[in-house]
Formats: sequence, structure tokens, C-alpha cells
Amino acid sequence: MNRRPELRRYHAHIWDEPIVMQMGQKGERGIILAEVEDAIKRTVGEAPSYVPRNMQRKEQPGLPEISQPHVLRHYLRLSQETLGMALNIDIGMGTCTMKYSPQVSEELVRLPGFAELHPYQDEETVQGILEIIYHFARFMSEISGMHEFTFQPGGGAHGIYTNVCMIRKYHETNGELDRNEMISTLFSHPADAACPATAGFKIITLYPDPETGLPNIEALKAAVSRHTAGFMVTNPEDTGIFNPSINEFVDIIHEVGGLCGYDQANSNALFGIARAKEAGFDMCHFNIHKAFSSPHGCMGPACGAVGVAEALSEYLPVPIVTYDGSRYHLDYHRPNSIGKVRAFLGNIETVVRAYAWIMSMGSEGLRQVSETAIINTNYLIRKISDVPGVSMAYPKQKIRLDQVRFSLEKLKEDTGVGTDDVARRIVDFGVQEYFTSHHPWVVPEPFLPEPCDTYSKEDIDYWVNIIRRISEEAYKNPEITRTAPHNLRKHKREN
Ligand SMILES: Cc1ncc(COP(=O)(O)O)c(C=O)c1O
Repeated sequence: MNRRPELRRYHAHIWDEPIVMQMGQKGERGIILAEVEDAIKRTVGEAPSYVPRNMQRKEQPGLPEISQPHVLRHYLRLSQETLGMALNIDIGMGTCTMKYSPQVSEELVRLPGFAELHPYQDEETVQGILEIIYHFARFMSEISGMHEFTFQPGGGAHGIYTNVCMIRKYHETNGELDRNEMISTLFSHPADAACPATAGFKIITLYPDPETGLPNIEALKAAVSRHTAGFMVTNPEDTGIFNPSINEFVDIIHEVGGLCGYDQANSNALFGIARAKEAGFDMCHFNIHKAFSSPHGCMGPACGAVGVAEALSEYLPVPIVTYDGSRYHLDYHRPNSIGKVRAFLGNIETVVRAYAWIMSMGSEGLRQVSETAIINTNYLIRKISDVPGVSMAYPKQKIRLDQVRFSLEKLKEDTGVGTDDVARRIVDFGVQEYFTSHHPWVVPEPFLPEPCDTYSKEDIDYWVNIIRRISEEAYKNPEITRTAPHNLRKHKREN
């Protein structure tokens, strides 16, 4: 049935909830622990006697004293004041839209065999988790074509930084310390320039062709030299446009002795379709917390999976999980390793979730994820393109993969309502504020939906209808949008 869904009425709760430190009262308790029996005290002494006197606190910590029902009420109220991703159609997060995060994975990671592991346990006693890490690394090798993986980095940018450190170490090892320039593209994720800059590299940015949005290959030829250390690039870029000639870019870098790192955080449109290896890359990273069903941001810790070609394995952070045919080991013996980039093995519960997801999907399922993500993006483009005031950046490129960058420049010109206003107004319809784009804006008045594989046709129709309603409203009465949100806990503060 081709029915335009009605927009729901929505209003956020207001609880005037204090912060937890202002709650409770003296003597209120959540859990009352049993007193230690005298016989035990006589045998082992008082607990504080085990802590050296100079390390003992002089005063009790100023923690709130709160009963369990009050704590529960507090967090439930806070949850009602927010628009969590499980509550709404959250496709506006651009390059960070949270993907399907199965609840069953939460059950899995809370199993005592995972949750109660101690990072200092002997490797003999943690064979199970090492087995998962080892096999997950094989899955990632299959997905990317890279030889070996580490899951230590605590996020995407950290993964890029790890790659950049390996590039530096590689050139150092080859005695080429004057390779101090890193090349990226304007529509790669900003971390692809920020991480090498943090590591001390000079950044050269390739600008997009104004017609196609693709980085200019002639500019790359002009940029490379014996100072080129490497090339860090996202593909599809943050416009959703895939560069089909990426292997030619990689070849140009290789010809001058540089290395190429593929930012695969946008890989949810590429599973089973294209791999870093075939495009010639030396290394890549994935955002496990983004593309592999693990919640991210405030909802879960992140994991940047970093993979390298065989020739670069020696530079990976230690330890790497290896298998000798009967036991799994933590291999610290890599003399050229860049060292550790994070404590222990990283956020391993994120790996457990992703491992379970891949096991449940299989290779065909993964490819289906990508095909659905691409179809959803292009369906959204068709649906939204007749909304007055909305245009697509770089319309000459017809297809987008995982996301699409739009512009509200026309809406702003016609009505004075810009993308920040629309982002605040959509909240009044019960969907989370959207991400406009990284700053500075290259596309005027941008917004960047990413419907991914998670959302249905009905969800996409609904989201587009919100944008359509806001556009109609902006042309009739722009003040409503300009002063939004109206139905949220907080309202707009006028300057
Ligand atoms: C393409 C791309 N690269 C890198 C990152 C950085 O990842 P993180 O936010 O985990 O540091 C992101 C963020 O989602 C991204 O979309």
C-alpha cells in the first residue's frame, strides 16, 4: 500500500532530574553488606591493615548515599528525557549512524566467561577468549584481504593513528626519516588528516573535483615526492561517493615509496563487494563499533580493528594472538612492533559482539547487509529529492553507497531556515537531531543521512516525511523551525 505515514505527536518528558551527586541522604543505602564475622577478623585482621597507612584515605569519599529504587528511578527518568537510538529512527547520524545492535549480543558479553575475565590472567586460563580473537582476526582478513589484525585501538581515530605510527616505523626502519608528508582527501574522514598531523606529519589535502566530488588524480601526481610517507583515505568518502579509480591513487603513492592506509569505517556498503587488498592498500582499519553491530558512543566502548599486509605484520602493536595448532598464545616477540597502543587487548567485548554477529550472518548475510545499505541510501535519495529546498551535493554522481550528503542551501536562500534549524526541528517529531557535517562545511547547509541496512522502507519514508513537513513549514511559517525545538525537554536559547 503506497500510503504516506502520518507523523506522530511527540513530547519529551520533563523531570527536572538532579544530578546523582545531589541525590540521596546520609545513611540511605543501596546494598547493606553483611558484617565480617569476629572469628574471621581475628584470623585475618581488619581490611584496612592490608593497605599501607600512607595510602589510606583521611576522609571518606563524598559519594551520594542512595537506595536502589532511587537509583533506578533516576536513570529511567534520564532515559525518558533522551531520544535513544532504540527509540527512534536514527538515520541522521551521517557517517556514525548506529547499525543494528542485537540485544542477544548484550546477553552474550555478560556471560561470566567473558564478563569476569581478568586481564592479568595467565594465557592458559583464557584460551576461550583468545580463540575468539584469533578467529575474529581471520574473519577480518577474509573481509579485507589483510594478513593480520590487532583489536587494541579504542576507536576509529585510534586505529588510524596506529596505522600512521606503523607507517612512520616502516620508514624509520628503512632509514627514510625525511618522509614527513601524508596525503589525504578533503572528503575523507577528518581523522585521516588529524591523526597523521598528531603523529607529526605534514598534511597535504586533495580537493574534490567540483563536478564529481571525487579527489583529483592530477593533484595527487603533483603532490607526491620523495617526502611522501603515505596516503590515508576513506572510500566511499564522507559524501557516500565511491572512488572507482582508487587503485590508481594507490599506485601513484607506491611508485614514490609511500604506504597506503584505507579508512574502512564506511565499509558497511562494501562487505563481500570490494576489499582493501585488491585495491592495493597496505593497511586498513574498520570501526567495529560502527559497521559490525556493536553499539558505540555513550552506548558502548569502541574498537578500531587494524589490519596490515604480510610485509607490515612486524610493526603491529603487541601482543598478537597466535595459534600453534593446539593452543592460543599472546605473541610479544615482534622486535619492530610500534609497542602497545592500549592497555591489555583492547575493548574485547566489542569483538565478542562482532564475532557473534558475523557467525550469525555468514558471508552471504554480510553481502546482503551491504546491498541493503546501498539500496536504502539510493531509495532515500529518490524519496527526498523532490522536497523543496533540498539538493544533493555533486548530483553528477548518481549513486551513493552508505550515506549521502545533501544541501539545504536553497531552503536557506528562500526561507532563511538553514540546516541547523532543521536539525533542531526534527526532534519535535521524535527523531534524533541529525548530524550536519564536519566543520568547516564544504557543502553549504549540509546534512548527511545514513539509512544503513537497519531501517525499513517505512522508516525511511517516515524520516523523509519529517523533512518534507519541515520544508513545507519553512516556506509557510519559518519562525516555527527557526525557534525549534518546541517539544523537547530543553528549548532553544535565543542569543
Ligand atoms: C570514515 C570514518 N573514519 C574514522 C572515524 C573515526 O572513528 P571514531 O569516532 O571511532 O574515532 C569515523 C567515525 O565514525 C568515520 O566515519
